[in-house]
Amino acid sequence: MTDSTLAFLRDGYLFGTRLLDRSGADAACTRLLGRPVTVLRGVEGVRFFYEGGRFDRAGAMPMSVLAVLQDLGSVQTLEGEEHLRRKDLFLDLATGPSGAELVVAFERELLAEAESGRSRGDVRALDLFNAVLTRAVCAWAGLPVRVRQELERTDVLAQMVEAAGSFGVYNRVVRVRRRRAERMLADAVIAERAAPSAPPGSPLAVVAAYGEPDPLPPEVAAVELLNLLRPTVAVSRFLTFAVHALHRHPGWRDRIAGGDDDAVRWFANEVRRFYPFFPVVGGRATRSMQGAGLDWREGDWALLDLYATNHDPRLWSAPRRFRPQRFEGLTVEPNTLVPQGGGRYREDHRCPGEPVTVDLLDAGIRLLTRRLRYLVPEQDLRISLRRLPALPQDGMVVSGLVA
Ligand code: HEM
Repeated sequence: MTDSTLAFLRDGYLFGTRLLDRSGADAACTRLLGRPVTVLRGVEGVRFFYEGGRFDRAGAMPMSVLAVLQDLGSVQTLEGEEHLRRKDLFLDLATGPSGAELVVAFERELLAEAESGRSRGDVRALDLFNAVLTRAVCAWAGLPVRVRQELERTDVLAQMVEAAGSFGVYNRVVRVRRRRAERMLADAVIAERAAPSAPPGSPLAVVAAYGEPDPLPPEVAAVELLNLLRPTVAVSRFLTFAVHALHRHPGWRDRIAGGDDDAVRWFANEVRRFYPFFPVVGGRATRSMQGAGLDWREGDWALLDLYATNHDPRLWSAPRRFRPQRFEGLTVEPNTLVPQGGGRYREDHRCPGEPVTVDLLDAGIRLLTRRLRYLVPEQDLRISLRRLPALPQDGMVVSGLVA
C-alpha cells in the first residue's frame, strides 16, 4: 500500500474526499506517517466510528496534535464508565445556566472591545475574537487575576489551536507555553482546594471540588480546565468565518440585521457546516469486529473525515454552496452535521461544547449585524483548503469597529 502522507499535505481538507472518491466507497485503506489507516466518511461511517465504543482515542493522533489539544488523562482519552462520569462534568459546565453565562461574558467583552476603540484600526477578525474570547472565558472560569493576565498576555489558548496544524518549531514552542499554562492552572487548583475563593459554580471551583470520588490530580484538573478554555477560544475561527460569510452574502446580512432570529440559527449552522475547521478525528478499534464493509482487528487505526461528511452530496444538496436556508424546517440528524463530532453528547465523544459554540456564534452574528459597525477593507478573501487550520488568506481584516 502506498503512503499518502504527501497527498494529505497536498490535498489538506480534500484528502479524504479524493481518496474515497477514487476508491468509490465510504471506507478506504491507505498509509499515513508509515502506519496503515482506514479513512471513513458519511452518515454510516460517523455512526460506526462514534457509537458503541468501537474506537478509542489512544495513539489515534500524532503527538504534535494531541499535546496541544486534548492531552493525556483528559476526558477524550477515557472510555466507558470513567468517560461518562467525566463527561457529565463538562456537560454541567458547558451547557444550561453555566453555558449561558459564558455567552453573556462573551457579549459583554465584545461590546466592551468595540466601545474601547482599541480595534478602530485594521485588525484581523481572528485576533479580535481570540482576545475577546480569552477575556470572556477566563472571567467565566473564575480564574485568579494573575492567571488570567498571563493567559491574555501570552495568547497561548489561541496558539494551541493554530499549532495543531504544524509539526515544526512553532509546535514545540507552543507545547512549552502550554506546559507553563498547565502548571499555573494546577497551582490555581491547589490554592482553590486549600482556601476556596473562586465564585461558586465557576469552572475553577467546580473542577477543584470534583471527585471520582477522589479529587483529580492537580495536573489532570489543569488539563480539563484547559479543555474548557482552549476550545472556547477556538470558536474565534467560526466567528471569523461568520464575518467572511456576512461579507460575501449581504442579503443574509440584511435579513439578520432586520431581526430574523430563525435566520441567525440557520446561518450559524451553515457556517459550521460549510467552512473548514477540524478535517478529521482519529480513533483505534477497541476490538475485532466487522463494519463499514471491512474486517477490523483490535488496534486498527481509523480517521473519520468530518469535512467530507459535512460536504457529502447525499446529505447536503449543493454542498459547496453556502446556503443557510437549507436548515429551514430541517431536523438535523446528529450524524450528518458533524463539525464537532458525531454520536451522542453523554455516551460518545461528541463535543460537549457544541451547544454553547452555536450560542456563541449566534450571539456574535447578532452583535455583528445589529449592534456593531465595521468595514471590510480590500483584501484576499480566498480560503485555501491546504492550510490546516484554514483561514481567509489575509486573516479576514476588519476596520473601524465601533458599537
Ligand atoms: C470551535 C468550536 C469547536 C470545535 C470545532 C470542536 C470540535 C470537537 C470535536 C471534533 C470533538 C470530537 C473529538 C473526538 O471525537 O475525539 C470535540 C470534543 C470535545 N470538545 Fe469540542 N469543539 C469546539 C468547541 C468546544 C467547546 C466550546 C468546548 C468546551 C467548552 C469543547 C470541549 C470539548 C471536549 C471536552 C471534547 C472531548 C469530548 C469527549 O471526548 O467525550 N469543545 N470537539
